Amino acid sequence: MPLNTLEEIAEYIVSDGKGILAADESNPTCGKRFDSIGVESTETNRRDYREMLFRSRGMKDNIGGVILFDETLRQSAQDGTPLVELIKTQGALPGIKVDKGLIPLDSSPEETITQGLNGLDERCKEYFSLGAKFTKWRAVIKISDSIPSDECIKANMQALARYAKIVQENNMVPMVEPEVLMDGNHSIERCYEVSCKTLQTLFDCLHKEGVDIKGTILKPNMVTSGSLAENQASIQDVAEMTVKCLKENVPSDLPGITFLSGGQSDINATAHLDAMNKIGGFSWKLSFSYGRALQQPALKAWLGKKENITDAQAALSHRALMNKFAAKGEWSSDLEG
Ligand code: 13P
Repeated sequence: MPLNTLEEIAEYIVSDGKGILAADESNPTCGKRFDSIGVESTETNRRDYREMLFRSRGMKDNIGGVILFDETLRQSAQDGTPLVELIKTQGALPGIKVDKGLIPLDSSPEETITQGLNGLDERCKEYFSLGAKFTKWRAVIKISDSIPSDECIKANMQALARYAKIVQENNMVPMVEPEVLMDGNHSIERCYEVSCKTLQTLFDCLHKEGVDIKGTILKPNMVTSGSLAENQASIQDVAEMTVKCLKENVPSDLPGITFLSGGQSDINATAHLDAMNKIGGFSWKLSFSYGRALQQPALKAWLGKKENITDAQAALSHRALMNKFAAKGEWSSDLEG
């Protein structure tokens, strides 16, 4: 498959059931993950962990792209091979998180706006020269009785559109991530309403900014009950309401939608994706861009010990394969073994 245009790059990443491994945890977030297994978050440990993931056999054919944090894009494996080269050898494209995190929103300080537009063009030029083929920018929308505010949705979606335009001008595919958080005790209907409004505003802004939709990937949340809600929606309800929300708000010429896992268990994230693809009836590829739902079993198996590397790699390979089945609507719980 030639990978010369933005469209070809975006299509490749989600081709044949492939999805994305999100390994772009900032150093503080990586520190939290390592704390959970009692490993110190040093530059070397972060490198060793990610090298282990990228060398897993199950990367091949199941993972079309890997999102990296700035530090990782510049690191080399223990034998001196740049990590970017390892990723490419596995048939995946390197991507890079380019936003600079969240700050409180002036008009509503309990909400956030994603920063990072300053100097973005220069950063993109460097990332392109280091081999990045796609980028990620994450906007966060919180739900409570009184939020999200219209200002929060608007300001964040405008920033996402501006980001996407700058990235395309630098010949990389922008992944736009408007994450409506699961945190809270809200119903699935409320998540649906906020997710629809967010996506509608996003595509409005992308259109106004002149972003090429065919060279863009959407990384949304699924429509779920709040994580603290007493009544949790079923797998089938999540799948149906997510597909409905996407069909109503996402243009059909977008090549791929790759969900974040957002705190769902690894099995639920797979089961939801599979249920959506079994429903079908949409033009975009529906796949995964999971961080925790792909890495958690591998992290738990690894525990920072060399003797656990084979088991940890098997754990990542298994989840990558299960999610590939789910991206084709061919998964069943029997395959989990
Ligand atoms: P999770 O799948 O753990 O939500 O991470 C994906 C991601 O990249 C969030 O920005």
